[in-house]
Amino acid sequence: MANLLEVKPLSALMEEAGEQGSHTLKRSLGPVNLITLGIGAIIGAGIFVLTGQAAALHAGPAISLSFIMAGITCAFAGLCYAEFASIIPIAGSAYTYGYATLGEFVAWIIGWDLVLEYAFGAATVASGWSGYFTSLLDQIGIHLPPQIATTYGAVSVFYDGRWQLATSLSPSINTSTLPHATGIFNLVAFLAIVAVTTVLVIGVKESANLNSAIVIVKLAIVAIFLVIGTGFLLHHPDVAKANWHPFIPPKDPSGEFGWGGIAAGAASVFFAYIGFDAVSTAAQEARNPQRDMPIGILGSLVICTVLYIAVSLVLTGMVNYKALNVADPVALGIDAAGVPWGSLLVKIGAVFGLGTVMLVMLLGQSRVFFSMSRDGLLPKWASDIHPRFRTPWISNIVVGGIVAFLPAVLPIDKLSQLVNMGTLLAFAIVSAGVWILRRRHPDLERPFRTPLVPLVPLLGILSAFYLMIKLPLLTWTVLVIWLVIGLFIYFNYSVKHSKVQRALNRA
Ligand code: ALA
Repeated sequence: MANLLEVKPLSALMEEAGEQGSHTLKRSLGPVNLITLGIGAIIGAGIFVLTGQAAALHAGPAISLSFIMAGITCAFAGLCYAEFASIIPIAGSAYTYGYATLGEFVAWIIGWDLVLEYAFGAATVASGWSGYFTSLLDQIGIHLPPQIATTYGAVSVFYDGRWQLATSLSPSINTSTLPHATGIFNLVAFLAIVAVTTVLVIGVKESANLNSAIVIVKLAIVAIFLVIGTGFLLHHPDVAKANWHPFIPPKDPSGEFGWGGIAAGAASVFFAYIGFDAVSTAAQEARNPQRDMPIGILGSLVICTVLYIAVSLVLTGMVNYKALNVADPVALGIDAAGVPWGSLLVKIGAVFGLGTVMLVMLLGQSRVFFSMSRDGLLPKWASDIHPRFRTPWISNIVVGGIVAFLPAVLPIDKLSQLVNMGTLLAFAIVSAGVWILRRRHPDLERPFRTPLVPLVPLLGILSAFYLMIKLPLLTWTVLVIWLVIGLFIYFNYSVKHSKVQRALNRA
């Protein structure tokens, strides 16, 4: 008989960590390293692409308030992640921590949910990446046919010397007389995932220096945008005033706007914050977790929130929010200021910056699959290691092969909404988990303690659910289908092959 609440013994976790050579208790990371780690994982397609869409469709210039709302939700969950992570003295994900503390069934749900977050997250970023890459090629005179650079069914028109999505053009432009093309398959995004998967199969060595370099590139492009944008706004205060007014556009029957639009915008740009949990996975490498974990998590969140607010304010001041529903809104902003080298730099930086976010997400995905397979919850092939490259190559190829099709046929808004839904659910479970564990095992050693329990976990759960209900019904349906598939696999395969269950039955 399976015991769904069975936890994985800590001793087994430590033993495996030792075997895999990833068992590192070297406490070498200080607060700055942790903040850098967070920023490296956080800044990506959210700010570079979704800001524009969310401003155009949901919140208008008040998208900056949406960023504050989403940031606060993340802060509650972040504080809970930190405690959860600091209890288990190995590097791991919420799946690993859940298995050791909340039991196999909850761990399975978290793990299955993380697959949604990472795999669909990589697909979302690939979609954003293709927008900037295509726009970069456009700027240097290489025009890709929109049939292979946009998702299935997306209509583009040839306007102003380049192909643009019909939905991104102002309604005042009569598009009926312009040349049209309909997207068939976003080959650009497909190939991006294939390329990242190839890198993963061959093997990447995570390096703190490389991460720092990428963080500098990302911060530099944000800074370039802010400097050029602020300069433009100071010289054209009338443009800013017109674009920021009304700051919260009235409720619109075709879209959201109004106060409800700010919350809908928050549910959409929430994607921009995903990745800060990377900081919590380094809990045991922190020199002083009690002090540095909250600094790392909250520090990276606060820095990103400030940057996001600044970028969204400047962007909506430079370009009317209605015109921001494009694949490369930040570059469009710089174009409005008439600084071609600036938009070229932003596009190059975005191509590199988003490339690494895809890598980090698919790497996280393969780690979760690897751990689940090693625990017997997924088939053995998911943790088979390539003899030469020493990477979980079959899992990488299978997942990469499936993920590559997602941005090729699905638009970025649908993909990102699904990721947000899955991640918000994981946030709620982790927040509840911290609270439950405090009651069940008050004496566990906790190098980092979430402040104000149960208030902070409770606020974490409520704010996550609030954003979840702001997501479209279709996203809920897909989440339920995803969980049902997960439960089917769990009860038909995992419980029968679980190593923890087998050990329990032998005992
Ligand atoms: N926060 C990451 C991004 O915006 C996932 O791309």
